[in-house]
Order: sequence, then structure tokens, then C-alpha cells
Amino acid sequence: MRLGPGVGALGSVQVERGIGQDAVEQVRQATDIVELIGAYVDLRPAGRGFKACCPFHKEKTPSFHISPERQLFHCFGCGVGGDAFSFVMQHDGLTFPEALEMLANRAGVTIPERSAQNGMDRAQILAALRGAVRYYRGKLRGAEGRKARQYLDERGVPQHLRDSYYIGFAPAGAHALLDYARVHVPTELLVQAGLVGRSEGGRLYDRFRERVVIPILSVAGEPIGFGARALRGDVEPKYLNSPETSVYKKAQILFGLPQARTGIREQGQVLVVEGYFDVLSLASNGINYAVAPCGTACTQAHGRLVLRYTQRLVFLFDGDAAGEKAAWRALEVTLPIHPDIGIVVLPEGKDPDDMVRGGHLEQLRRLLATPLTPVAFAAESLARAGTDGHPLIRGIAELLAKVGNALAREMMVEEAAERTRIPVRILRQEVERRGRLAPRRTDVGLQTQAAAVVRLTRFEEALLQVVQADPSSAKALREALQDVPVVRQGIRDVVDWVAARFAKASPPEPAELLQRMRMEFGEEIHIGFLLAEGAAVPNEQLRDDLLRRLRQQALEAENEALGHQIQRLEAQGDQQGAMNEQLKRKQEIAHELALLSQQATATAVQKELDAPGEAR
Ligand code: UTP
Ligand code: MN
Repeated sequence: MRLGPGVGALGSVQVERGIGQDAVEQVRQATDIVELIGAYVDLRPAGRGFKACCPFHKEKTPSFHISPERQLFHCFGCGVGGDAFSFVMQHDGLTFPEALEMLANRAGVTIPERSAQNGMDRAQILAALRGAVRYYRGKLRGAEGRKARQYLDERGVPQHLRDSYYIGFAPAGAHALLDYARVHVPTELLVQAGLVGRSEGGRLYDRFRERVVIPILSVAGEPIGFGARALRGDVEPKYLNSPETSVYKKAQILFGLPQARTGIREQGQVLVVEGYFDVLSLASNGINYAVAPCGTACTQAHGRLVLRYTQRLVFLFDGDAAGEKAAWRALEVTLPIHPDIGIVVLPEGKDPDDMVRGGHLEQLRRLLATPLTPVAFAAESLARAGTDGHPLIRGIAELLAKVGNALAREMMVEEAAERTRIPVRILRQEVERRGRLAPRRTDVGLQTQAAAVVRLTRFEEALLQVVQADPSSAKALREALQDVPVVRQGIRDVVDWVAARFAKASPPEPAELLQRMRMEFGEEIHIGFLLAEGAAVPNEQLRDDLLRRLRQQALEAENEALGHQIQRLEAQGDQQGAMNEQLKRKQEIAHELALLSQQATATAVQKELDAPGEAR
């Protein structure tokens, strides 16, 4: 994400959600990056820090380094790097606020934050939901949970999945949870959390009764709602779901995502299925990269959410009319933001759970290995419905007009033409006409995905390296930068900020510097140069070279301006002899430039600075 100067992603988040810099700092202080990353990868000591095989790319010899002193990590193999926040953001695909929440939880730091609608503290609501998960899990293990355990046995949900999905049991009775919880938390909080309902007469009752409860976790791994399955087939509704609350927005949440993350990364794809038990029974058979919406249709926000983790989206739909309709809808909402989509439609009347438990696991695996392209699905679906001629063209063109990526759209047009024998020219025309009628939305989410990595020039990197290692030099550098266009505004702002912090006797920590850089340049900023061997050691020669270069640039700019002035004065036939002054200044400049170039001994640093920003 490319951000304008001074308007960092974090900045806007803070305004919206009232997260103070204090909270960020507090969480940072409370988090040890070594301990954090150590929970994800095997670390071994190396020099003053640790190294490991990089969790972001495949490698056999470790090039992933962690510096405890600077609380930063960096992979010299693939270039990822950052602080504790960027680690969980990149590893778990979290946004900054989500990462903050996750690390805050982990460290036991409470982030003061009011949720907009109701004034209840988000942290309190989340705590109530956590309490409910504990309570329901206890009930599943206890005497009252016998039937529920039996139900889960019958449905083939092994103990390890009951644990990793935090499955529980809500006992019968209208007040079980209420009676238990009101000792600890205000009942209003239980209502806000969606755990307790209020009848028209104002009476409170447990929402979930005599059901298996399946917690729905946020991407940060916090329970935010539940889906609750009746134990018997004759109970309506089959599933009862948490209502939307200030912490639970169904259109943006996928069941099973935290548990599937590793599988998604390993498989390089995500499987989106229809139901809770589909996810569970796939997982119990080693298909561990499936997620499901929570009793809603698939939305564009769902698509964006999974695209944080992988570029390959496969939808798996039940083999019934509802499944087919859902597949069309899924394509309509996701094709505008992403073209790499596969569709698997199961045999008539089957859902993934039926396949797995009906002994058709191998058939399911084959289907998963060969999903239909969007075009193949659409053509087959229309053919099944007996659609032909003009309606066929219309059906296909309407879908393809939604494809956001122009190249993918054209390829799909060609694929569809070949498959349906509609002349490509006609199909293209129909698609384009529809595209014009309903202009495709430029999708912000996708732009974020595709945003180029911000590359600093070597000069800019050197500048930051110097102010990191020696914040006392920031002021002089900032002044030297004044009229020189060699570095972009964001860098000036950062150098300014370092100077100001130094003046207040609290120069920024390396991790803070990184965060500040991220605010200016977005998440993609590369920081390897701040971690390079010796980057933390003040380098006077580099500093002096930079200052000299800046002075040189300033003089050259002034020289050029003088040249223009002189030309103008000549054209006007300079009467007052103003030109003499300009000429004198020009001479002084030439003199100083000559001196500077003498001083600029051809050091390695100097040569490097002359090189353009290399591709990293
Ligand atoms: P299905 O009716 O396909 O249920 O609904 P299922 O997943 O096969 O359920 P089992 O196998 O009988 O337990 C798919 C999804 O639709 C939502 C749930 O999210 C469910 O997983 N749903 C269904 C509800 O929210 N409420 C209902 O009453 C039914
Ligand atoms: Mn089912």
C-alpha cells in the first residue's frame, strides 16, 4: 500500500479505533520477538541473536535471523523482515489492529478501546466470550455432555479436533450459562456478546441450549461468536448462530481460518466449503485447508480475507441446486477481485461430510485435484439447465464481464469461446458491452495485494542507516536535505522525527524506526539494510559522505538556478550590473564543488552511493 506522506495506515487506524501510540508501545515492550517467533520455528543461537529456517519460504540452510537487541527479524534469503508486529502480520496474515490485538492478548496487555455502538469495552466482550468457551468445554467433558460426546463420536470428530476447534456443549435449560456467568460478569455484557437473548417481556435466556457449540474465531484467534448444532434431527433450527455483535461481523469471518492457516500455506490454496461439519470432517481426514462462511453466503470480504493467505481459491459446493446457486454467487462476488478460482461441485445430493463419511474420500480427493475453471463451471451449469443460443451467450458474458483483471478476462473469453463454440469476437463484444454498462469496481483490496514493494534508493537507505546508528546526526542531515530533491518526502519526515526524538533525549528504538517507516511507506518496505552486518554501528565516514553528497547536490541545484537567472538578465540587457553578483556566486560555487570532489576520496561507500537504488 503506497501511502502519502504523513498519512500512515496506522494513523488512520488510530483515529478510527482509538488505539493510542501508548498501547502500541506497551504491547511492544511486553513482547519478546525471540520468544514470539520461537513459538513458530526452531531457533538456534547465532552470533548475538538467533537463526532459523525461514517460515516464509522453503529452505534447508537457515537464513532467517532474529536480533534480540533490536527486536527485529530478517530473512536474507527472501527479504522479509520486520518487528514482532510485522512478523504476525505476515505470518498469520493479520492487519495491524489484528496483530496488535493478538500480541496484546498474548502479553496480557489491555488495550483501552470503546466499541462504537454500545459503549461496552471490546476487551470485556471478548473476555466474556472466552469465559463462555471455557464453560461450554467444561460441560462437554462433564456428565451433562454425554450425549454431545456421543454425537461428536458418531460424526467422527476426534478429540484433537474438539480441542483445536474449542468445541463445547451448551446444556439444556434457559439459565445455565446465565446462572454460571452472572457471578463473574454483568449480564448486559452477555447480551452484548450474543450469548444471552432478551425476550419481549424483558426476560433473559441462554441463547444456546442443548446444542454442540462451535466457537467462531477471529483471525487473531479470539472467540467472537458461535454456531450451535442441535443434537437431534427433529430440532429446529438445525443450527442456531450467534447474532451479529460489535465483535462478530459474519460477512467478514470464516469459520476455521486460524486452524487452517498452516494448511493453506502448505497447500498454496484455500478450500471454501459450506458448513461447519464439512470443515471438521475434512480436517479429520487430513484435508486441513478448508474454511466455511458462518451460515451466510460468500461475500467479497470473505474473498479478500482468504486472499491475504493465498492466491488460489477453490470453492467446494454441495451437489444440489442450492450448491450450484451458491457457486454462481461465489464467482460473481470474487471474480471482480481475483481471477484464480477453482470450483468443485460434488455429486448429486452430497456434501463434503457425506463424501468423507460415506467412504468416498478418494473420489473427493480426485475432485479436489481437478477443480473446474470458472468458465468450465459456468458452461457446464448452463448446459445442465439446457441453456443454448442467445441465453447461453448472455449467461457467460454476464459472468465474464465481472472479471476484474483484464488479462484474465480476455483469457476466459477465449476459453469460453472454445468451449461453447460461440465465436470469440461475438463473445468479446458482449462481455465488453456489459463491462461498459456496469463499470467494474476498481478494487482496493486487490490493489493492496498487487502493490509493488517500495524500494528505497541506496542513498535513502544509507541515510536511514546513519540516523539509526547515530541519531545525533539526524539534525545536520535534515538541514542538509532542505533543498535537495534526492530523497522523497517520507524519508525527510522520518529523519525529522529522529532528530526531534534525539532532541528530547529519547532516540527511537530500531523497532520504532521500522514502524515509522511502515507508516510512511506501507507494510512492504524492506528493512534488510537496517539489519545488515554493522548497521547499528555509527559510521562516520558514511555520514560525512552523505553530508558531502547533499552539499554537492544543493550547490549543483543553486548553480543551475543561477544559470537561468543569468540568461534572463542577459536577455533583459542587465543595466544594474546585477549579473556580476550572480557570476561571483557562480565562481564561489565552482570553487566549493572542486573542493568537495577532492575530499570525496573514491571510497567504496561513495561509489555505492553513486549507484542507483538496486533491485532488492
Ligand atoms: P447445511 O444444511 O448444508 O448443513 O447447511 P450441514 O453443514 O450439512 O449440517 P450437518 O452436516 O447436517 O450438521 C450448511 C451451513 O448453513 C448454515 C450452517 O452454517 C451450516 O453449516 N445453517 C444451516 C444455519 O446456519 N442454520 C441452519 O439451520 C442450517
Ligand atoms: Mn452435512
